[in-house]
Amino acid sequence: MEATQSGSMPRIGEKAPEFKAVTTQGEINFPADYKGSWVILFSHPADFTPVCTSEFMTFAHMENQFAEANCKLVGLSVDGLYSHIAWLRTIKEKIEYKGMKNVEVNFPLIEDITMEVAKKYGMIQPGESNTKAVRAVFVIDPKGIIRTVIYYPLSLGRNFDELYRVIIALQTADAFSVATPADWRPGDDVIVPPAGSCGTAKDRMDGKEKMKCYDWFFCTKEISKETVLKTILKK
Ligand code: BEZ
Repeated sequence: MEATQSGSMPRIGEKAPEFKAVTTQGEINFPADYKGSWVILFSHPADFTPVCTSEFMTFAHMENQFAEANCKLVGLSVDGLYSHIAWLRTIKEKIEYKGMKNVEVNFPLIEDITMEVAKKYGMIQPGESNTKAVRAVFVIDPKGIIRTVIYYPLSLGRNFDELYRVIIALQTADAFSVATPADWRPGDDVIVPPAGSCGTAKDRMDGKEKMKCYDWFFCTKEISKETVLKTILKK
């Protein structure tokens, strides 16, 4: 395995560190096996814990939604494979939560008892825990480049609607050469150009499209929700 370009914590814009691992879905070679797909690599502190269980049920419930956006999911904790298998079986057979039941986790969950992968991805943060991974989220693009990194502490369950929004927003930014403003959702105006000047006029044209300029550094244009979703989501 190679060292990251930046020491112990991979950063946005860097290549995702490579590793091979055993998972609940067999061995994976990361990120090579995911070339051509977006992937969310995320860690959780421990199997058989309540916040993690609520997160796995939610993520598994949304797996098809992420798949339609060409995004695969890969989980990790520093537990062993048999713990993972037993926990996921318990979730499927016993847990009913917020209307979700018989939830099958079909995406790979990495066993990392040596913490090799967790350390490589900066998931062990000793101020929080020496023995458990924090709730890390790495969004990696189809070329294997890290595009977003989010860390949460042990006690805070993630917002999976936000992670889905991140995937759609990144793909929208790439597809239309725009940026997305605060709280952007498909159908909201996007920012153009992503950085720099867009002139002094209040309303300008970007090709044939009318832009709205709030000031010289802040211009937006419309892209319909239908156009965004048609471009990004697989039929
Ligand atoms: C949980 O998932 O509930 C959890 C895991 C580790 C520490 C605290 C909470």
